[in-house]
Amino acid sequence: MESTDQIDRQKVIAEFDRRASVHGNMNAVLDAGTTEEISRLNILRDEMTRRSLMKLLKPCKEDDILDFGCGVGRLSHQAAKKARSVSGFDPSSEMIRIAGETYGAQNNLNFSASLPEKPASFSKIFTVWVLQHIGDQELETLLKDFARLIKPGGKVVILEQTRQWRRILSDIHIHRTREEYIALFRAAGFRCVKSGQVMRIPSYANWIYGKLGCTCKICLKLMCFIEKISMPYRTDRIQYHTSGMIFVHDSKSDQYD
Ligand SMILES: C[S@@+](CC[C@H](N)C(=O)[O-])C[C@H]1O[C@@H](n2cnc3c(N)ncnc32)[C@H](O)[C@@H]1O
Repeated sequence: MESTDQIDRQKVIAEFDRRASVHGNMNAVLDAGTTEEISRLNILRDEMTRRSLMKLLKPCKEDDILDFGCGVGRLSHQAAKKARSVSGFDPSSEMIRIAGETYGAQNNLNFSASLPEKPASFSKIFTVWVLQHIGDQELETLLKDFARLIKPGGKVVILEQTRQWRRILSDIHIHRTREEYIALFRAAGFRCVKSGQVMRIPSYANWIYGKLGCTCKICLKLMCFIEKISMPYRTDRIQYHTSGMIFVHDSKSDQYD
């Protein structure tokens, strides 16, 4: 496997601190930009990622959940509507500050810039568009942390940008293949029990939504449907997907065989 030592953790954190202080809302974690068009497209990205994540995560009242790389807390907040508790972790103190200011009043939700340490603390862990900012070596160590933090029978859900061929986009951003993620998780004792593509770039839904002047719930729902059914069209043009994957730890799983 090609080395990803190019990913510079300090640069990543500095960049997300910067995006958080410039945008102060979900634009800091989605497409970073200030134009009206980007803000509007981010409403759709937010809707698509929330829907896709909730379908895989299925949070319920017995769940204590870790949102790893929680950013401004938009998905922690969503999961906390159904879970017993959600802990949001992010190394960017600016992200954590905004998440706390926005959602801190919610009783079953807490945010921290330190990763919890107690073993078997969480029934579910999820992470969305975060692992693409972590190099291979750090990721190997991190997945061992996930194995320690997850309860027996628990699951780890990821939404990540993936390509057919690995590509380093910058010193803070890498696209891996789905097979690479599966291999990295396998090395930490995890087995992939579900894997699929949930969003694509370029996207028919994004294109249609860009032409419409509407952000109503029905329109967003329709766009999510269009994204789903248009996934197999003109695949030769696709640059990358967001893939959704579920992993269970072999030594801790008893319910996914
Ligand atoms: C694209 S944002 C996604 C945020 C959030 N998951 C969401 O979807 O709204 C990436 C996040 O990953 C965080 N991050 C970057 N490097 C990280 C690392 N090594 N460990 C944990 N989180 C990291 C960033 O601070 C940022 O908040």
